[in-house]
Amino acid sequence: MSEREPRAFAARVLGWFDHHGRHDLPWQHPRTPYRVWLAEVMLQQTQVATVIPYFERFVAHFPDLRRLAAAPLDDVLALWSGLGYYARARNLHRAARLCVERHGGELPDDFESLLALPGIGRSTAGAIAAQAFGQRYAILDGNVKRAIARHRGVIDDLSRAPVMARLWAITESLLPEQRLADYTQAMMDLGATVCLPRAPRCTDCPIAHDCIARRDDLVDAIPSKPRRSRVPTRTAFWLLLLDEAGRLQLERLPPSGIWGGLWAPPAFDDRAVLEDAASRAGAVALHDQPSFSHLFTHFRLDVRPVCAWVGGAGCATDAETRWFAIGEALGLGLPTPVRKLLQSLPARTEPEARARQRRGRAPRT
Ligand code: ADE
Repeated sequence: MSEREPRAFAARVLGWFDHHGRHDLPWQHPRTPYRVWLAEVMLQQTQVATVIPYFERFVAHFPDLRRLAAAPLDDVLALWSGLGYYARARNLHRAARLCVERHGGELPDDFESLLALPGIGRSTAGAIAAQAFGQRYAILDGNVKRAIARHRGVIDDLSRAPVMARLWAITESLLPEQRLADYTQAMMDLGATVCLPRAPRCTDCPIAHDCIARRDDLVDAIPSKPRRSRVPTRTAFWLLLLDEAGRLQLERLPPSGIWGGLWAPPAFDDRAVLEDAASRAGAVALHDQPSFSHLFTHFRLDVRPVCAWVGGAGCATDAETRWFAIGEALGLGLPTPVRKLLQSLPARTEPEARARQRRGRAPRT
């Protein structure tokens, strides 16, 4: 972008605002610092249409900062009731009292003092400084962030601090010299009504001609979705103990737990423990089967099935451990991944079973 382009950017945005922006929001008439502050706090997590009736009721009760500061917190919370995020109301009340103590009952007009008040972050402080006092400060709320990131083709994860620092620098570089209040409202309106998260209205956008996301077909890719945090993974070694008749040992799982009461092969956290169990059962060879994953809501189970063969007929050790022909087992209550595994088991194990029968003993690995 050349040196005169930021000016062209702001001029386009302001030109669009004059015809298509929002000019009748209640906090714009009159645009006092107290009303701008209240609106910006209410708008932090809530859309304009929801905020308007709350704003009007609130200012009817507390028309200025001093009356808000003098009110009991319960009255403030009652007027906030239904708007949600009640920490905002508590901070607002606390900030009003601080303004009485420190700033003569007025909202301070310098950015640093605004930022020092509870419930006012960098973007809110910028929005108040620009709209209430006409000062040259930038904003970067969610809507503006999306619009700027698209315009500049910022494909990175916007939740990362260095990416945010870059967006702040861009936003600040685009500020006009005049009409800061209008420009601030214009950027918010552009983000909220044109540069929409899905299906943005690019044909109505005053800055579409040099929007990098549009040029490079990245509109849907920005803002990039932060990578979902990886779900924790647990590994289970499943012992598929087969007897000479091809019957499989299954055990009934204890009643508590996700698969309570269902039938499943013995499972181990550790392969060495599985080997011990197989050896105690008289198996002489282990055959690793292809592993697979099963996804639960909160974790992924990586299953490593291991086949082992015992000579003769498998004998039941207790009522909850039994041997089943595969067809019979498929008629039991089985967890889905066990069922899938058993359905594929004959194809996997028959060649081994035949070889074992030919040799007259369990196969060696
Ligand atoms: N979101 C935050 N501040 C806003 C404002 N002044 N107008 C519209 N949406 C907003």
